[in-house]
Amino acid sequence: MKRIEIINGPNLNLLGRREPDVYGHRSFEDYLTELRQQYPDVELGYFQSNHEGDLIQRIHDVGFSYDGIILNAGAYTHTSIALHDAIKAVPAPAIEVHISNVHQREDFRHHSFISAACRGVICGFGLDSYRLAVEALIGRQ
Ligand code: DQA
Repeated sequence: MKRIEIINGPNLNLLGRREPDVYGHRSFEDYLTELRQQYPDVELGYFQSNHEGDLIQRIHDVGFSYDGIILNAGAYTHTSIALHDAIKAVPAPAIEVHISNVHQREDFRHHSFISAACRGVICGFGLDSYRLAVEALIGRQ
């Protein structure tokens, strides 16, 4: 059974209530229940934190034993060299995910410090971006 960890960064605990015109009306917990049902043969772990160090620690904790990491680092995507280094420090492949199409948004969202450390990037498909990342990690793409 493949083990994949979904890691969400700052402000993503507010999904469903935060800027619903950009991020939708659904909570992540609600979406995750459905995602887990779609992949009964995959162990989908979930971790969210608003703190950069906690995200780094989680990457260290799962990155040596899990088969993959799906990382939506939120705004730390655009600021964090430390997250880049954490992804590179562990053998598990990471997929960078964004709900919104960051390239259609403000200029400061166009640069990612973590893309170069990741296996690939999926953005702009709403919450379905996470499912597409699962597909990429289980090799059915
Ligand atoms: C986001 C895009 C980021 O620019 C933003 O800071 C977020 C969410 C997304 O999923 O679209 O918090 O990562």
